[in-house]
Amino acid sequence: MSAKNVNEKQKKQPIQTPKGTHDILSDEYFLYKTVLDKGEEIASYYGFKPIQTPHLEKEELFTTTLGETTDVVEKEMFKVKGKEGDNLVLRPEGTAPIMRAYLEHGMHTLPQPVMLQYQGSFFRHERPQRGRFREFTQFGLEILGEKRAIAEATIIQVMTLTLSELGIKQITVRLNSIGDKECQGNYKKELLKHYKKDTNQLCKDCQRRIKTNPLRLLDCKEEKCAEIKSGAPQMVNYFCSSCKQHFKEVLESLETNNIPYTLDSNLVRGFDYYSKTVFEFFEEEEELENIDTKNEVIKKEGTMATNTPLALGGGGRYDYLSKMLGRRDIPAIGAGLGVNRIVQIMKERKLEPRHKKNPKVFLIQLGSFAKYKSLNIMEMLRKAHISLQQSISKDSIKGQLILADKLNIPYVLIIGQKEALENSIIIRNMETRAQETVPIERVVDELKSIMQ
Ligand code: HAM
Repeated sequence: MSAKNVNEKQKKQPIQTPKGTHDILSDEYFLYKTVLDKGEEIASYYGFKPIQTPHLEKEELFTTTLGETTDVVEKEMFKVKGKEGDNLVLRPEGTAPIMRAYLEHGMHTLPQPVMLQYQGSFFRHERPQRGRFREFTQFGLEILGEKRAIAEATIIQVMTLTLSELGIKQITVRLNSIGDKECQGNYKKELLKHYKKDTNQLCKDCQRRIKTNPLRLLDCKEEKCAEIKSGAPQMVNYFCSSCKQHFKEVLESLETNNIPYTLDSNLVRGFDYYSKTVFEFFEEEEELENIDTKNEVIKKEGTMATNTPLALGGGGRYDYLSKMLGRRDIPAIGAGLGVNRIVQIMKERKLEPRHKKNPKVFLIQLGSFAKYKSLNIMEMLRKAHISLQQSISKDSIKGQLILADKLNIPYVLIIGQKEALENSIIIRNMETRAQETVPIERVVDELKSIMQ
């Protein structure tokens, strides 16, 4: 295409956000803030300290920990070539970076466990579809240096409380244990034996999984693999005594704390760093209501192929992650909530954001002298915590009154040339249309008394 044609094409198509990314406009922004602040508030009470890691990380941080054959590493990382030739990526997830930071800053020398919370953007080059974006927001928690089941209960409790206090009340925690390296070795052998009987009947992904990541066979949602999956051996029968004991303690700690859960023996999660406990958070669906809680597997897997519910979050234990990064084993566990998906639900339910304040006062300024004075007035109102809307560039009083009315703002302040010179301001009640003129220095007291 010639330069001229390229220019013409650019003229016709205004530049838009890249595929799979979104602008977050004000109304939605307040929902994001509500979710993140709620998570942060609850996590702080439970002792999680904030941490922020870079959006750019070295590629090898993820290739060595998530697994070479996982979708994220194989196809979904946004790669960035640094000028010094270093291979960087936009972080696809937060757990490996947190472990890197923990080791890099010697946090293993602090009193253990170290409990961290974080929030921000993550990037995966996925095919954009319902609930899947290329840039998305997570709220995450990690407990590093704790092997006991109370860590699982703490993470699950804080995440479920966050969801339910946001108004998403019916939450299911699907829970499983995938054992440790030893039990997984034995189990994988049996699983492969079972699947190899019928390899040709499997979907393409499962045929690949047989070679690369057999545990992920259990995660397949394709109808054609449902039958062979339902007859697959159960991991629970291959647990060593310590994995069995740990999982028992996890269940007991959830029960003691009245945290409902559902066992799902097919839940395996997507990254290689997981071991033992894994879990995901879902909004309860009517069709899943009949699932027995406790010690039962999900019975309706077959029905999930067509209308798979999206996880609102997920996590698990990752006791080997630090070893994958070349250090000794550090027991650890965490979870991430998918904030975009939570915001979507809040929008559908018309759940109100916490922060959005409907302004009580509209400030009308007429003429340039009044406009200069208006900055002082805005500051007086801000200090008095009176929320305000104004239209800095409009000059017509009619247009501004119409706007205040449209926004349902009960009081209007009007400052024109005359008022500016006299250091006064008009307060107008939009409902009764009554007006009074007061000295500017009295405006806050007057507003406070009439707005009570
Ligand atoms: P994950 O399951 O990959 O785990 O992501 C956690 C949550 O982020 C998902 O349940 C989903 O709600 C949301 N999410 C993931 N990918 C996307 C996407 N492309 N678009 C929108 N939302 C998405 C992790 O990332 C682990 N680091 C969680 C963890 C923390 N495990 C231990 N500690």
